[in-house]
Amino acid sequence: MCGILAYTGKGNIRNIVKKGLKSLEYRGYDACGYAFAYDNNISIKKEVGKNKIESLTDSLPEYVEKNVYLLSHTRWATHGDNTEKNAHPHYDCKKNIFLVHNGIIENYNEIKNDLLASGHKFIGSTDTEAIPHILESIDYISTPEKIFEILQGSFACVFLDKKQPFKLFIFRRKSPLIVGKDKNTLFISSDMQTLSLFCNKFIEIKENIFYQLDTKNIYILPENKKIIYSFTISSFFNKKEIESEKENIFMKNEIWQQPETIKKNIPILQSLINEPASKLNKFIKKCKFPERIIIAGCGTSWHAGLIGKIYLERFSKIITQVEYASEFRYNNPVFNKNTWFFALSQSGETADTIGAMELAKLFNIPIIGIVNNPLSTIDKNSDFSFHLNVGTEIGVAATKSFTMQILILFMLSLFFAKDKKEEKKKFISAIYELPEKIKEVLNKEDELKQIVEEYFLSSSNAIFLGRGYNYPTALEGALKMKEISYIHAEGSSAAEMKHGPLALVDKNLPVVFIVGNKNDITYEKIISNMHEVKSRNGKILSIVNQREKKIDSLPSDKVLILPETIPELTPIINVVALQIISFYAGILKGCDVDKPRNLAKSVTVE
Ligand code: M6R
Repeated sequence: MCGILAYTGKGNIRNIVKKGLKSLEYRGYDACGYAFAYDNNISIKKEVGKNKIESLTDSLPEYVEKNVYLLSHTRWATHGDNTEKNAHPHYDCKKNIFLVHNGIIENYNEIKNDLLASGHKFIGSTDTEAIPHILESIDYISTPEKIFEILQGSFACVFLDKKQPFKLFIFRRKSPLIVGKDKNTLFISSDMQTLSLFCNKFIEIKENIFYQLDTKNIYILPENKKIIYSFTISSFFNKKEIESEKENIFMKNEIWQQPETIKKNIPILQSLINEPASKLNKFIKKCKFPERIIIAGCGTSWHAGLIGKIYLERFSKIITQVEYASEFRYNNPVFNKNTWFFALSQSGETADTIGAMELAKLFNIPIIGIVNNPLSTIDKNSDFSFHLNVGTEIGVAATKSFTMQILILFMLSLFFAKDKKEEKKKFISAIYELPEKIKEVLNKEDELKQIVEEYFLSSSNAIFLGRGYNYPTALEGALKMKEISYIHAEGSSAAEMKHGPLALVDKNLPVVFIVGNKNDITYEKIISNMHEVKSRNGKILSIVNQREKKIDSLPSDKVLILPETIPELTPIINVVALQIISFYAGILKGCDVDKPRNLAKSVTVE
């Protein structure tokens, strides 16, 4: 999705903008552009297409003697074609105001018609273009509140005005915007990751407040009140990881980091849960024990929520409902007194999940964030946050964040489980074995690559099936496959096949059965489902979690044997194999696995 990098001060502007925009690439973009004021001359440039950051930024000067006021942008088209006219920065009729925007202006048509009627000229067809024209028609210095009265929707805006030299202006609603400080330079970005390349002190920009920046200070308009800095220091983001420019490296690295991400977090989670004085325990004391939990998320986070539901209902006996955040927020959901709300999100900036959380907040119930990015909107607005603590995830595909979401939900369900002491001990020792077992899966890289060659490369469709804990794993396997390799894949409960999808099966369709292990309650059931597919000549790959006699008699063309673990943890083991399969399907088909077409890492618009 769109990204903003702006700054005021000196320095090598070419390098700063190149580095900043490149770090925003992972969000997905179709066009990019900049505008900067130097000596009160404003220069502007835009480029359309992917991979245009180099040529855009090569046109910037390197070192400059005086201060520069600069804004730059990567655009992920939502309104209007991918053309230069629709790329940012956008400007007013007199070309005084140059503005970049993230978000969506919902009433832009109405605003545009009013502005056209009063003589304004528009050149493109985006929602953003309305904003510089509004700014042109109001006195935003003395009545900045007007802009918030006119605009509806979400917006993070940065702009320059020729008539107001040596300043940058910023304002936002819903979409994030953060200011960072380094010596005599202020940086502004929509993305913490980008800011952390340049500084490690940050300040939050509040909603519906109009700010003016020079090279050192931030003022609130109209009072011109100087903000006394209270910067938060964060070292969460790893500069080296963000700056790595090698192609197709992030997704693979992130899959391979999983033994480490799991290993380092087990003791952290354990002490959070066990220490009576831990933040979690202090928080719980203030709330009533949940009678019902609502989990909301999107995409992969939603899949993790589905697995969490089984844990929470099975071990904690808490009624749990899992919702697509996008649907939940518009369905007039019912909240009763002892309901808790879980917002599940890697980025912490997914617009729909934020929307669902805002709705839940109105009912005054405990809001729990399970997020990777500290200081993200969901993190800041939750009553209690679990941090995934897996480091930056840059590849568009969610990988290491998914396995950690599952682990957190599992451990949380054990925390809420009132008895089951012996069972809990068994679970904890299985959790400690996970990192080594994931390593065993990673060591199967060659076998997994071969499976891709045999099963997926010659097919444009695939089906992933599972039951119980591994039904959401099947959904996730299918999502990864279509997202990374563009092979059309469907995930389903194996039991649902005979209610329709079985009609698709023929000798050419790869059908992946995620069988699990023999202690799983659905083990025998899924084997019957395999027979149903085999009888229709389906091309079956089965994934099992232990070696046992029965494997030889499975109605399967190929059996992939993964390490054994307790049924509850099989999704973590199995999904790692599915991540590697989709990674190689993408690589062997020549896809950009880190930045799949049309997608964005952080979906900041509805
Ligand atoms: O940052 P979030 O977890 O809120 O993102 C939700 C989805 O957009 C995300 O999981 C998406 O489905 C992934 N790209 C899938 O790999």
